[in-house]
Amino acid sequence: MSDALTFIDTNLGRFREELNEFLRIPSISAKSEYDDETSRSAEWLASRMREAGLEVEVLATEGHPIVLGEWRGAGANAPTVLVYGHYDVQPPEPLELWTSPPFEPTEREGRIYARGSADDKGQLYMHVKALEAHLATSGSLPVNVVVLAEGEEEVGSPNLVPFVDAHLERLACDVVVISDTGMFAEGLPSILFSLRGLAYFEIHVHGARSDLHSGEFGGSVMNPGNALSQIIASLHDDQGRIALPGFYDDVVEWDAETRAQIAALPHSDDETREELGVAALAGEQGFSTLERLWIRPTCDVNGMLCGYTDEGAKTVLPNHAMAKVSFRLVPDQSGAKVKELLEAHLRNVTPAGVTWELKELHGGRPWKARIEGPYFDAAAEALEEAFGTKPVPMGGGGSIPIVVEFEERLHAPALLLGFSLPGCNLHAPNEWLSVENFEKGIGALALLYDKLGAHAAD
Ligand code: BES
Ligand code: MN
Ligand code: MN
Repeated sequence: MSDALTFIDTNLGRFREELNEFLRIPSISAKSEYDDETSRSAEWLASRMREAGLEVEVLATEGHPIVLGEWRGAGANAPTVLVYGHYDVQPPEPLELWTSPPFEPTEREGRIYARGSADDKGQLYMHVKALEAHLATSGSLPVNVVVLAEGEEEVGSPNLVPFVDAHLERLACDVVVISDTGMFAEGLPSILFSLRGLAYFEIHVHGARSDLHSGEFGGSVMNPGNALSQIIASLHDDQGRIALPGFYDDVVEWDAETRAQIAALPHSDDETREELGVAALAGEQGFSTLERLWIRPTCDVNGMLCGYTDEGAKTVLPNHAMAKVSFRLVPDQSGAKVKELLEAHLRNVTPAGVTWELKELHGGRPWKARIEGPYFDAAAEALEEAFGTKPVPMGGGGSIPIVVEFEERLHAPALLLGFSLPGCNLHAPNEWLSVENFEKGIGALALLYDKLGAHAAD
């Protein structure tokens, strides 16, 4: 094992060069004009996984390909670990806000700046390098490994569940390991106990046959812009709660122990406020900021489109307004139920004189972990050894739709340990990964594979 850690140390320069190559490929899954680049990214990753010592196939789907790597030399009695990550990235816009271009990885102040550095190419690549370190130094691993890298996570993984269902035997495993989240703070490794789900909609409001002169007609017909504003305003009450009747019926109250663990984390509302540049934090009354982020659902406008938005004034009543509205969900909420509640609410609150239409975009189910047992212990030990600090349990405000689906279909628990840091600009301009975490993270994952083998034998 110490050989593997020495190997990581000696080869770090090469690992970083390789990661830079990976980051230079603009694998933007949402944009079809980048389809060739997204495929090239899959092929590039497959080649590196082969060099690491895995047997690798790039499997076509209806969308972007899935890279599947396998090493089964540990034998039938050893546990099998399924490593999941994604090689696709979010669009980089707005480009003018990047200090260095998104697909030209650049190091500044101990950080690798590039789209995908933290989410998730950098973290996925850390697994590949940890596996390589074992296979290059001892020729084997204490566990069997299947690495599944998809290229559609950022667009809601539309082809992954069918893929999993079609390859159940090949993906059969004892534990799923994912590094696509962050650490609670610098130097403080973390293991996730939850992820929120997602239900994402477009609300359209239609009015008159065409746009109208706002003087000639204003005051005599319902303006879709006004109507949509009314609808949006009605989504929350004055306590910051979501006002769809029945919305909280399926929300599980978290146990006292987890709430105490959350309260014990080193968090300051004032610091968060300053970092974000806002005068006040806001959210559901009765819950702390971390609880609001991790164990409570939300409803947020993600975008709006309506009327005249170009230079100067145009006096017009638009005949159409649209808002993109997403809900983050917690156990045991379902996107289908939220859609029904939203439809009922729209029927109730939409003013007369306009019509509404609800379109469903992508979604994902919430996840709650069991953070106990031999695999969890292995992760805690590996993180403590690599970072010199015991990991803390934390929640994840974001969504990784496949996690619950893996657990249900493969009957294996998921272990989520990630290495991005607060403020690393996921999905935003100037995304970065800490060089130190890249290095320590590879060590932690090499230790993890070792300990997963050892703990399973306990
Ligand atoms: N890696 C993130 C999810 C994440 C980020 C979890 C931070 C916990 C903390 C993932 O790539 C992501 O961005 N997921 C999307 C969902 C998807 C359906 C587009 C999200 O959360 O918005
Ligand atoms: Mn991700
Ligand atoms: Mn993401």
